[in-house]
Amino acid sequence: MAKSALLKSSLGKKYWMALTGLFLCLFLVGHLLGNLQLLSGSKDAALHFNQYALFMTSNPAVKILSYLTYFSILFHAVDGIVLTVQNRKARPKGYVKNNPSANTIWASRNMAVLGTLILVFIVTHMVNFWAKMHFDEKMPLQTVTINAGGTDMEFYLTTNGDYLPKSRVDQNVIEIKNRTEFYDAAAGVKINEGYKDLYKITVAFFKNPDYGLIASILYALAMVVLGFHLYHGFGSAFQSMGVNSPKHSPFIRNFGKAFSIVVPLLFAIIPLYIHFILKV
Ligand code: HEM
Repeated sequence: MAKSALLKSSLGKKYWMALTGLFLCLFLVGHLLGNLQLLSGSKDAALHFNQYALFMTSNPAVKILSYLTYFSILFHAVDGIVLTVQNRKARPKGYVKNNPSANTIWASRNMAVLGTLILVFIVTHMVNFWAKMHFDEKMPLQTVTINAGGTDMEFYLTTNGDYLPKSRVDQNVIEIKNRTEFYDAAAGVKINEGYKDLYKITVAFFKNPDYGLIASILYALAMVVLGFHLYHGFGSAFQSMGVNSPKHSPFIRNFGKAFSIVVPLLFAIIPLYIHFILKV
């Protein structure tokens, strides 16, 4: 391939890497704001989180954004691998003997390794939460226990604000169909809908007596990796997209540095808070 064509194609790839990377940064902000509800400590934290999860999985506009997110993750990863291989091939002989650390920071030289670790994190993370939310037939529905006249009674919370006694489901008076829908068993008509208890799944994961501690620590470490990846990636994305003016670049660089510290730090606090502090 001619050098100019190679340059052209790798510039194009860098542009798309930048665009998908910045879109994923927006996803991170949205995801963080949703997950910060896990820190609220309020007595309605579970309901609010589950209402948010229902909205995120059922609203058509959010669904489109979710598909864009999956596509961006895959595209960003594949494009990144192709670019890394292309750059290695295009490197002048003896380059490795130069002293790359003299002019590039550690994160910029290791973007592919950092990115691969993040991809491994995202895949395991999605298996643990997203797959359960979307496909697990045993995903629990949210219940609440109320003490009435000295006896504890368990109720399903429904999306229209009703409390449906669990005993009526246990006695087969009410049937659960399609994972969340309550049906009158005799009449066969839908009477209500419950919330998938994503809050319970998330808290149980980080509080698990066997692997909760290690999972929380690994999550926090993954956020350190994410921080390094963003530290270089954020500013570099704007450069790849041609935003390179003396007026804007210092602001973008500083904003990127702040972003790469604050966002992963807040993410890291969530599993550690759930494991060590949250009372259930
Ligand atoms: C450390 C704190 C985090 C917690 C507690 C958390 C929790 C969750 C939960 C509960 C879900 C399932 C939601 C659903 O399917 O509706 C989810 C989905 C997801 N998470 Fe996270 N997450 C965290 C960090 C991250 C990070 C840092 C990334 C990316 C680097 C990430 C990427 C994703 C993706 C791509 C999905 C699927 C989203 C979708 O379907 O639209 N998460 N997360």
